[in-house]
Amino acid sequence: MLAVENLEVRYGGITALRRVSIEVGKGETVLLVGANGAGKSSLINAVIGLVPAKAGTIRFAGEDIGILSADRRARAGMGYSPEGRRVFPTMSVADNVLTGAHGRGKKAQKEAWDWLSGVFPMLEERAAQPAGQLSGGQQQIVAFARAMSSFPDLLLLDEPFLGLAPVWIARISDAIRQMQARGTTILMTEQMARPALKLATRGYIMRGGEVRRSGTVAEIRDLALAEEYL
Ligand SMILES: Nc1ncnc2c1ncn2[C@@H]1O[C@H](COP(=O)(O)OP(=O)(O)OP(=O)(O)O)[C@@H](O)[C@H]1O
Ligand SMILES: [Mg+2]
Repeated sequence: MLAVENLEVRYGGITALRRVSIEVGKGETVLLVGANGAGKSSLINAVIGLVPAKAGTIRFAGEDIGILSADRRARAGMGYSPEGRRVFPTMSVADNVLTGAHGRGKKAQKEAWDWLSGVFPMLEERAAQPAGQLSGGQQQIVAFARAMSSFPDLLLLDEPFLGLAPVWIARISDAIRQMQARGTTILMTEQMARPALKLATRGYIMRGGEVRRSGTVAEIRDLALAEEYL
């Protein structure tokens, strides 16, 4: 479903990714692990099209998407939840969530809202409230729900558990499992390797902008857990 080959990302003189290659097969949940600055967000952001690739190719569903804008990539079936709970603070919770399903028609939006508010009752309770007034954990849920609201083929999650209490981690894990049951392919980063390893099928260990190891969850578990404490 997703094939990244020899990807390079640079910010001015800083090389954030150096010849990174990863693959995510249809229906897989792949985890990117690595310490601060390893390049996880750069990889996710290059896939969704928020940072340009200096070199390398990104293929999605068999097509080279390197020249498409982030918006076009979203419409082609990618959902993205950014690191650090980014919401539109003055927009209502419901509008924040449904911007993800923008252009999909009223029926699809209603289906998304009904499902998401079933998973996260908080969304229904706070639907009309400006998202900027929510707690950090609640804002994370809003950002996460927005990524799912288009029922994307490929869901990109950048640190979905960051800074969350265990009860929210459990709820987000639950929602991720429901997305998996719908057949959604997922690429996620997470410094909290423990809960993330429970969701993933395979993973890549990144360090210094490179992929150092890859394998099934069983193969990378120990390294991933060690990485958590670096
Ligand atoms: N906008 C930017 N401008 C300059 N350098 C950047 C920018 N974003 C990231 N970097 C640098 O690129 C490298 C990779 O950063 P990146 O955010 O991709 O890592 P990460 O694995 O997501 O880290 P974290 O776990 O802290 O989220 C780091 O050296 C970082 O300082
Ligand atoms: Mg990051």
